[in-house]
Amino acid sequence: MIKVAPSILSADYVNLQKDIEKVDKAGAEYLHIDVMDGMFVPAISYGPGWVKAIRPITNMVLDVHLMVEEPERYVEQFVEAGADIVGVQVEATQHIHRALQMIKNAGAKAEVVINPGTPVEMIKPVLYMVDQVLVMTVNPGFGGQKFLPETVEKIKELADLKKSEGFDFDIEIDGGVNNETVKAAYEAGATVAVAGSYVFNAEDPAERINAIKDATK
Ligand code: DX5
Ligand code: ZN
Repeated sequence: MIKVAPSILSADYVNLQKDIEKVDKAGAEYLHIDVMDGMFVPAISYGPGWVKAIRPITNMVLDVHLMVEEPERYVEQFVEAGADIVGVQVEATQHIHRALQMIKNAGAKAEVVINPGTPVEMIKPVLYMVDQVLVMTVNPGFGGQKFLPETVEKIKELADLKKSEGFDFDIEIDGGVNNETVKAAYEAGATVAVAGSYVFNAEDPAERINAIKDATK
């Protein structure tokens, strides 16, 4: 069964604690926090202060996805704020190895993220050092977009590398995930599914989390 990471990007910001409690109770393993800087992606979302505010209200794994240019400027702040996993986009830095080292040295799990247009080849040299790889299944920037099926091939490629090289990272998918699109990704080797609009734009978020889990039994 896949682990589920609801993205608070689609939550009700005024009643955020309530929404977080709903997905926590429903058994979501991670809480996905999308940080957007208005440069790497057009939107601006939220920063380390949100992570700090959320940390004391849940024991879920705080999974911070930095859609930020030169993320190495900020990774330490996010770890200090209470992030368990910090993800950096390979396209956003000239120094991906250093950025990942900084996350690990600060005491969190390190994740590398690739956009739909970025091949697995780009991150091969750092796969030995990461705890998680995030394969974007939409172009980053907004919730509610359509899952791109051509990204599934990259999940398979990463799963094969785990086997052949003995790597031990989680493979996360993010964008357009629902109880249908998750199936092919899970079969290809995805172990964590981010879901924003599918979970939070629903009457009952718990039912949606269960639907994702049921689809990957
Ligand atoms: C997109 C973000 C996602 C977003 C997913 O840039 O990285 O985490 O919240 O939203 P949905 O699940 O609605 O596609
Ligand atoms: Zn995300």
